[in-house]
Amino acid sequence: MSLCLKRRSTRNFIDSPVHDDVIDQLLMSAMQAPSAKNQQPWEFMVIKNREVLDRLSEVSNGARHLKKAPIAIITLMRDTKTSPYMRPVDMAAATQNILIEATEQNLGSLWIGVYPLDERIDNIKKIVTIDETLTPFSIVALGYPENPNVEIKPRFDRNRVKVIE
Ligand SMILES: Cc1cc2nc3c(=O)[nH]c(=O)nc-3n(C[C@H](O)[C@H](O)[C@H](O)COP(=O)(O)O)c2cc1C
Repeated sequence: MSLCLKRRSTRNFIDSPVHDDVIDQLLMSAMQAPSAKNQQPWEFMVIKNREVLDRLSEVSNGARHLKKAPIAIITLMRDTKTSPYMRPVDMAAATQNILIEATEQNLGSLWIGVYPLDERIDNIKKIVTIDETLTPFSIVALGYPENPNVEIKPRFDRNRVKVIE
């Protein structure tokens, strides 16, 4: 089965560490994402500290699952002049690449939405020091899943497809 079909959001993780070589694989895939004019507007912050993860779990209601995650990656969007309107799109591609690589590595992952909500962006900036030129875009909670055999529910719907021949 393809990794895209296998990927599901994980909100419950076991208490098992994620090794640095696996984290590097996630970051390598993130940085391999396509971006407008190849501007690569991303930087990443890897959070392993339990106290910081707990504080980040209060950034929004949807972030509460970080309480159970052993690590998280905050994706950071850099100011760029190359193709500024496309930066969030590039960041979404990088975030999705982390989720897909996590699936390949048998990790569970959860995209926690941040950008473009100012409150969440500000909440993160109160917890970790982030350079002025960077904007938190997403938080990805990561870890080995409590339930590795989550049901796959295909969403394919031909009614949403129009073919022009
Ligand atoms: C932009 C974005 C923001 C999201 N934010 C959250 C969040 O804050 N908390 C959460 O639990 N899930 C969040 N999700 C995960 C979605 O709820 C999830 O992808 C969706 O319900 C489909 O389920 P699946 O990922 O298992 O296929 C987010 C997903 C995206 C793409």
